[in-house]
Amino acid sequence: MPLKQLAPGEMTADDLRDWCSVLNDMTAADMPAEPRWRTDRLRDYLLGSLPDDRRYLFLDRDGDGDLVGHASLILFGGEQAGTGVVEMSTRPSARGKGVGTRLLRAVAECAQANGCRTLSVEVIATTPAVGFYDRHGFARAVVEQRHLLRWAEIDWEKIEHAAGRLAAGYRLEYHAGGVPDRLLDSYAEVKANLRSSTGDVAFVPEWRGSAYAPALRDSFAVLAERGMRSHIAVAVAEPYGQVVGLTELVVSAQRPTRADQYDTVVAPGHRSYGLAMSMKARLLTELRRAEPQLVDVQTWTLETADDVRWINAELGFAHDVDWYDYEADVDKLLERLARRA
Ligand SMILES: CC(C)(COP(=O)(O)OP(=O)(O)OC[C@H]1O[C@@H](n2cnc3c(N)ncnc32)[C@H](O)[C@@H]1OP(=O)(O)O)[C@@H](O)C(=O)NCCC(=O)NCCS
Repeated sequence: MPLKQLAPGEMTADDLRDWCSVLNDMTAADMPAEPRWRTDRLRDYLLGSLPDDRRYLFLDRDGDGDLVGHASLILFGGEQAGTGVVEMSTRPSARGKGVGTRLLRAVAECAQANGCRTLSVEVIATTPAVGFYDRHGFARAVVEQRHLLRWAEIDWEKIEHAAGRLAAGYRLEYHAGGVPDRLLDSYAEVKANLRSSTGDVAFVPEWRGSAYAPALRDSFAVLAERGMRSHIAVAVAEPYGQVVGLTELVVSAQRPTRADQYDTVVAPGHRSYGLAMSMKARLLTELRRAEPQLVDVQTWTLETADDVRWINAELGFAHDVDWYDYEADVDKLLERLARRA
């Protein structure tokens, strides 16, 4: 059976089961300590996307109908139009036979046909994917350090203490699933500090979040549709009640023992009061009640982000592996792939 491109809604129950089994074989081979995937809400996970984004899936089955590899391509719309993100896996027993290259070609052709000029991919530094993307001429755009906090090793006394220590004039709020409308505008303003254009120290390269209130509401809704539960702590300044700091974390139905901590940012005028530490600690105390099944929390920082790294270390996060953001120009990638054919 040839390589097949399909819309997420066309995935059958068998496709979903096979998709999950490739992910778990890949995890066992490349990252055995990482949590395994479940099929719970996997269809929703693959189906959900922001209104302006589109997602394409690719399945490669061998002559016996066994799934040997798969890929997902998200083409961003709106402000990030022209860029896309790819994720792909070859079943370890089928590696080195050109499956990955075939998938990459199909992905790049689809990207080009839809006006996408740049593809990016996140790769864990210790896995064979590094050799693959180097071989295909992707350039390493950013190196991030992954930090892991193991639930069983958390010093709860220290965390409770940090969560309760708050500078005068502020209060913390915890919200699950999104933020209330009364906070949305100021929340979006604080998020804008993560953008490169502000020249801010909290700038996150490759940041694809939204700093616009209606789009933020959409993104929380899409997370929920995809089976991803968001947990948020905000620092609110008295007396006006506006958000001046935030930290966000997601637990997905497909890997419920693992939490992903994404954006943490404090508005410039409110830094150096310990707000980030208090928010992150408060979020952990809330998670203890809300997600008792958690085994670990992962987060990513740049080597240069000393302040965030210090806070994470205080909370018990430890650096274990680097992640690379690779990028390729779609036209050039296709030219290189054509020369190989
Ligand atoms: C990356 C991956 C998809 C490659 O799949 P694959 O089917 O083995 O790839 P191919 O057989 O098409 O290999 C293509 C080229 O990459 C090279 N390559 C593949 N793995 C390599 C490695 N570990 N080291 C060096 N080169 C490697 C191959 O030698 C080949 O080059 P050649 O044709 O000039 O000999 C596969 O290793 C995988 O599933 N990894 C885990 C998933 C993952 O981490 N994905 C990245 C995030 S999306």
